Amino acid sequence: MSNITDFIKNNNDRYLKELKHFLSYPSISTNPENKKDVLECAEYLKKHMESIGMQNAKVYPTKGHPVVYSDWLNAGADKPTVLIYGHYDVQPVDPLELWTSPPFEAEVRGENLYARGSADDKGQVFIHLKAIEAHLSQNKSLPVNIKLLIEGEEEIGSMNLGQFIKDNVELLKCDVIVVSDTSMFSKELPALGYALRGLCYMQVDVTGPNRDLHSGQYGGAVENPINALAEMIAKMKDADGRILIDGFYDDVAPLSKEEKDNFAKLPFDDKEYAAGLEVDALAGEKGYTTLERLWSRPTLDCNGIWGGFTGEGAKTVLPSKASAKISMRLVPNQDPDKIEKLFVDFVKKVAPKSIKTEVYGQHHGKPWISPIDSKWNKAAMKALKAGFGKEPVFMREGGSIPIVFTLEEYLKAPTVLLGFGLPDENAHSPDEHLNMNNFYNGILTSADFYEELAKA
Ligand code: BES
Ligand code: ZN
Repeated sequence: MSNITDFIKNNNDRYLKELKHFLSYPSISTNPENKKDVLECAEYLKKHMESIGMQNAKVYPTKGHPVVYSDWLNAGADKPTVLIYGHYDVQPVDPLELWTSPPFEAEVRGENLYARGSADDKGQVFIHLKAIEAHLSQNKSLPVNIKLLIEGEEEIGSMNLGQFIKDNVELLKCDVIVVSDTSMFSKELPALGYALRGLCYMQVDVTGPNRDLHSGQYGGAVENPINALAEMIAKMKDADGRILIDGFYDDVAPLSKEEKDNFAKLPFDDKEYAAGLEVDALAGEKGYTTLERLWSRPTLDCNGIWGGFTGEGAKTVLPSKASAKISMRLVPNQDPDKIEKLFVDFVKKVAPKSIKTEVYGQHHGKPWISPIDSKWNKAAMKALKAGFGKEPVFMREGGSIPIVFTLEEYLKAPTVLLGFGLPDENAHSPDEHLNMNNFYNGILTSADFYEELAKA
């Protein structure tokens, strides 16, 4: 291992230069105008995989953005095959004016690299590419068989990847799946994830009168869709933060005593957390700690709401329409399709007769949880300790990676959630960044992890 460790340590500057290039592609999957950039990013990735010695590299077209695949399968049939999943697409950058430096011109400030996609997820994908490169350049081989599956639609719900997996079960066949698209516990504390929340994302469109009205001529006599929508949303939760949708909690698995105790042992301070967000107080479901709320309890949040006049100044209008996007993070064993139905029923129940309401689902994802004591997880814990020089912890994640469920289902292999981001690196927000120490230690960890997997 030491020749590999030395190689990695001696190549940090080059890694930074190459990562900056990968980050320069504006691969925003949701924007139709970036379709070409997404494709160019995929093609760059394929070429880069070839340049580090991966084989059978290919850009696979889908109905949406392409999937990039490559493999190296010469470790031998007695060695495990590891499928590494990540994504090269990124979230939109707006509001652009809140970025300190341009989002697609990566810049180092302090110990961080600032760019859209640095933490989520190009930086983490690159960690594996560099760990693979270190093995292949130094030893001309890898300790395990590796398949890389890097998709371009994760940020828009992986709409076409499920079908790709179904159609390519043989190509993707593996013993273990490794996903690097999550966070460590903190800068001081490397961690291995063992659960993700699911997601049920809905839109509600409310229509009142057939046109915008003068709010003096009509106000008081005709329903205002914004008021009606706001009232409906207000009815979704009580003062204790409990969600009031009938049946919503029916399938929620309670937290075991053991997990509860493990959460409580982690170094987490509510005051520090609040201070970092510049809020005077935290909010959430009564009776649960912050980590319990984040990791083991479902949520309901309004992600966007619009209607009426939002320009500068004042316009006295009673609008014809209003809409909201509302998403629910789900926990084991909630089912997004069932939750969608409960949500629709609830909205229909509380909607006043004075408006028309349309409710429909956007993308969904199932929650995921795995046993923490698998041999694969043990291998990852050893590698984290070697890479970071610190004893890692187990953690759950509040975010969602719906495809994990699908990968496990079709490939019949377990997943290791090996994340190198940090919770406060501004994923999906301006000034997204990646801690470069974690990037370099992530490469050391991954290089070691492949060796540990070979022994597992
Ligand atoms: N990398 C995140 C997911 C994540 C972040 C998991 C932090 C755990 C901790 C991923 O790219 C993401 O943002 N996923 C979406 C899923 C959605 C688009 C279906 C999410 O969680 O909102
Ligand atoms: Zn991600």
